[in-house]
Formats: sequence, structure tokens, C-alpha cells
Amino acid sequence: MTINKHILLGVSGGIAAYKSAELVRLLRKQGAEVRVVITKSAMEFVSPLTFQALSGNPVHSELLDADAENAMGHISLARWADLLLIAPATANLIAKLSHGLADDLLSTLYLAATCPVYIAPAMNQAMWNKAVTQENMQKLGTHGVKVIGPEQGDQACGETGFGRMSEPVDICNYLDHALELQNQPTAQCLQGLRVLISAGPTREPLDPVRYITNRSSGKMGYALANAAIKAGAEVTLISGPVTLAAPANIELVKVETAAQMYAAVMSRASDHAIYIGAAAVADYSPAIMQPEKIKKQEEQTTIILQKTKDILSEVAKLDKRPFSVGFAAETHDLEAYARDKLARKRLDMIAANWVGRELGGFDSEQNALQVFWENGEKTLAMADKKQLAERLITLIAERLHEKNLGEQARG
Ligand code: PMT
Repeated sequence: MTINKHILLGVSGGIAAYKSAELVRLLRKQGAEVRVVITKSAMEFVSPLTFQALSGNPVHSELLDADAENAMGHISLARWADLLLIAPATANLIAKLSHGLADDLLSTLYLAATCPVYIAPAMNQAMWNKAVTQENMQKLGTHGVKVIGPEQGDQACGETGFGRMSEPVDICNYLDHALELQNQPTAQCLQGLRVLISAGPTREPLDPVRYITNRSSGKMGYALANAAIKAGAEVTLISGPVTLAAPANIELVKVETAAQMYAAVMSRASDHAIYIGAAAVADYSPAIMQPEKIKKQEEQTTIILQKTKDILSEVAKLDKRPFSVGFAAETHDLEAYARDKLARKRLDMIAANWVGRELGGFDSEQNALQVFWENGEKTLAMADKKQLAERLITLIAERLHEKNLGEQARG
């Protein structure tokens, strides 16, 4: 493991600050140059001298330090850093960062930093579970802050639950993997993984010549298949009826109905690391398919529709389930419906898009996505579906990687 980076380590005031000393030692051992910024309350737990000795660099604590400020201390520190790591990040600091407050050196540095930011929260379990802390964490997630931990276990206060800072060795492992992923070209981020993608519409027959369908062209799903191949994945594409040319060197399974798509996906899902449900699967299908052409008779007629099986939900329920990514196509209340689907279908991620508008969604060259997961979200701005798919694939690879690291850390 090598972490050849300039790491700015922020230490805020919690009992876990003692672990940060070990963190400095481990980071340096792996090749990082470390500079420490410590808050006033952290100094109550660990002396700056400890960090100075371990990092081999002066420790910074004052925002208004006359000497440093001559040289714009906080700005030059922010520029120096390849990565800002805050460990431990207390509930108070998290609240400050999420609201953009800058009343000391560390919170000011966070605002000035343009490098990636990682935080390792540490606090009492009740404080961690408090709705306002979770809201603050979500906000930081949307600002691109990556979160390491916290872990579950006994706490210094005598309680048990989530809130322990991750162990220094786990933080180092996490950074090592994250940097590795960052340095890999897109072409590598799904190397060796099997990815199952559904695309296009389904057709639900009413009689031998008529069917119910929707406006999906398959462009989004096919772009994802191409992006996944480019990222090194082995791709299986389950496609509804579309007029697109399938990418070469994939397994292409052509289906027509929701029931056929269900069977094709379910028989393969457990053999894949990732499932992406980009298909616009019919929610309802005619209860009876008339064997002969329905004749024109009455002024009005009624078709009884039967709910189809929800493929995505069933995939996410599998014992050996792939990392499950859904789409949400909505004409209103996009975020609320997407978050509801994320939770109800127990997905790892959901990519929400507006449909029925002028730009984006069904049968257009461009699209925009709002992507949600348990503790974060990211907006992928309007772009060509090809570019958008590459960005979504990169995001999926990052989230899968973080999930795997989290599971490894929990043993
Ligand atoms: O194909 P394009 O023209 O490029 O358009 C792209 C798209 C708009 C179709 C695509 O971006 C998209 O949003 N796909 C999902 C469309 C959809 O059916 O959304 P939904 O909100 O109704 O369904 C939610 C999720 O459940 C989807 O992942 C869907 O695949 C899945 N589902 C739905 C019903 C069902 N019976 N089984 C499912 O798996």
C-alpha cells in the first residue's frame, strides 16, 4: 500500500483524537506527507506536540496567526493539500461544515479546499442517530464529501452503537483503495466484473396484432452497456424491442414482454456483480391475451390489466444479490418518488430522471440524472446519454467500492 500524497489531516475535539496520532504514523509509513490542523477542543485531548513529532511538520491551529496570515496561511495550506482528511469529525464540526461556517482554521480550510475531502465521524451513538446530524451528513454527501465509518461498538461514554471512529488502519486502507480507483482511467473501474443491464420498453400483447408499450428507445440502457464495456466489465444486456445496434462482445438477450424480461433477468442476476434496471418495464399487462384479433364492436370497451412482477424489487431480494441500481422515471415529485423507490425496493442506488418534458428522458439523445443512495446524492447534469452513462458507471463503481470496503471493515 502506498499513499504518495500531501495529506492535510484535520483533528477535531473528541476522545477519538488519540487515534489520529496513530493515523499520522501509518499515513507517513505509506509515503504520505502529513500536515496537521487541530482545533482548540482537540488540543484538550492530544497535544499538538504529539502531532508535530509524528508528522515532522509544524501543527496549525490558529486562523488569525499573524505570521502565517502574512502568507495567507489557510489558503496556502489548502493549495498544498492533495486530500483533506478530517478524523475525528465531531457532530459540531460536521454541523459547521454542512452549513458553510468558517470560524476557525479547520472549518475555513474546508471552505478553501478544492481537493477531495474525506471525513471519519466520531461521536456518541445518540448524537450520530439524531435526525439533524443525519441531515448534515446527507448535505455533506451532496457536496461531494466522502465518509469513512463510523463503526458500531462500545463507546468511551459506556454506550454501544454506531459512532466509533474507524480504526486508523481501516482509514488508511480506505484511502488507498479510493485513491487507486481515482487514479484508474474509466476504462478500468469495472475491470473483471459482470454487469447485467435491462434496456428499452416491453410490449404487452392485447391480441396477436396489438400491444401496450411506452416511449423508451433503449438509448439510455444501451449507452450504459457501452460505458460498462469501456470500464472493463463483462456485460449482459436484456433488451426489450428497440431499433438500436447492440454493442459487440456482450451477451444480448432479446425479450418482448415484462414476464420474459423478468425470467431473463432473474435467471442471471445472481451471477452478476451489478444489476442496472434501465428498462421501462410495463407495470401492468392485459390480464388476458385474446387469441384472435379483437373486433371493433361497442362504442367503448374495457381491458382488464394485471400488475406485472417488479423485476428490480425481486433482484434486490435475492440472497446472492447484485449491487442493485434502479431508475425512476417521473413526471412530478421526482426526488420524493425516487427516494421512496430506493427505500421500498431496498436498492443500493437510484437514478432519477424527468420524463414527459421537452428535453431528456424517453427517446431523446440527452438526459440528466439525480442519483440517490442511502447517505448521499449526486446530480449528473444534462449531457449526451453516452457521456451521462459513463459518469453514472463511474459513480456506480465508486459506490460499489465503498460498499465493499464498508462490508470488509464490518467483517
Ligand atoms: O430508453 P430511453 O428512450 O433512452 O429512455 C430512458 C428511460 C427514461 C427509459 C430511462 O432513463 C429510465 O428512466 N428507465 C426506467 C423507466 C421506468 O420504468 O421507471 P419506473 O419509475 O416506472 O420504474 C422504476 C424502476 O423499476 C426501473 O428501474 C424499472 O426498470 C423497474 N421496474 C419497473 C416495473 C417492473 N415491473 N419491474 C421493474 O424492474
